[in-house]
Amino acid sequence: MAKTDRDILGRDSVDDLEAILAITNSDVDEAVHTVQDNAAAIFTWDYEKGARPALNKLYEKAKHSQWNGETDLPWDTIVDPDAALEPFLAAADPRFGVGGDLAMLPGSPVKSWTEKEWREMAMESVNWRLSQFMHGEQGALICTAKIVETVPWIDAKYYASTQVMDEARHVEVFAKYLDQKLTGWYPINRHLELLLDDIIEDSRWDMTYLGMQIMVEGLALAAFGVMHQVTEEPLLKKLLRYVMSDEARHVAFGVLSLKELYAELSDAELRERQEFAFEAAVRMRDRFLMQEVWERQGVDVRPIVKGLIETKPKDDPFQQLLFSKIVPNCKKLGLLDASGGWLRQRFEEIGVIQFEDWQDTGDEYDAFALTNEELQGESA
Ligand SMILES: [Fe+2]
Ligand SMILES: [Fe+2]
Repeated sequence: MAKTDRDILGRDSVDDLEAILAITNSDVDEAVHTVQDNAAAIFTWDYEKGARPALNKLYEKAKHSQWNGETDLPWDTIVDPDAALEPFLAAADPRFGVGGDLAMLPGSPVKSWTEKEWREMAMESVNWRLSQFMHGEQGALICTAKIVETVPWIDAKYYASTQVMDEARHVEVFAKYLDQKLTGWYPINRHLELLLDDIIEDSRWDMTYLGMQIMVEGLALAAFGVMHQVTEEPLLKKLLRYVMSDEARHVAFGVLSLKELYAELSDAELRERQEFAFEAAVRMRDRFLMQEVWERQGVDVRPIVKGLIETKPKDDPFQQLLFSKIVPNCKKLGLLDASGGWLRQRFEEIGVIQFEDWQDTGDEYDAFALTNEELQGESA
């Protein structure tokens, strides 16, 4: 039974402006957020290490690649957010970052913005992005702890346990950077929160992998790559370099594990995975509309968000790159073309299919690995 967009997204069309605007974080002061984790914890009595050689190799690599967020990064760096993030500001400037000139929209609320307002907006959006990455890292921490419990293979449990440590370190370093070097952090974006909740609530172990390792981490790996290239602030650059070396392994873990499972699924089962991947892609696009940042700048959000959703990723280099890992990995898993090419068609609609033949992340992680010198923590 085919699902409609309402079943998948909770709205009748991908670009339904009012439905998107209605999704806001209504409780920014909440101290904890509770989600039901509907999964069975699985013991395995098959302890044969290396039965899945690719996962075993990844596990050995991960043990060798641990770093210490406190001692391996140069926290004594003095960060002047305005000066040090200058090149970053240009890339984060919404006039560049979204590809369309928002000031040109009919009745644009940012028509009369001067350089000062644009700079403020750019700075806020850097802060907002890093904040969302921090929240996403906590999502990854929880998801990989869940994978340790739910995956039935010993090699995967071993590997996932190293990822739990990696994600703790990632939450730690982003939180410290935002707290000590920038001006604090934004609450979680509601679109991102909805996605994380959906991933955690699903009872099927492969959905945790698909949502987190393939979609959320695939996007993060691509976004960190762009930020790492752009920023000249030495602490952030190094932080991103170290986090990316871990993230590349995490995405590989997803690809290697799901490839085995998905080869055995029926078309109907694959269709459910396609729908989940599509939902995740749309939620992640929606989160980058940055509703709450525009709001904080005192702008009428409606015309801005309308302008942004009319800018398809194909017209927007930053948005495009966000999908540059997700699409080839979905292809490698057979998700693009299963069920009559349903996901291929949906990715065409949202303008990201052009990445299908880019390198997938199944074995790309070696290229991201830290050198022995980097691992010796020369700045300790
Ligand atoms: Fe992470
Ligand atoms: Fe990760």
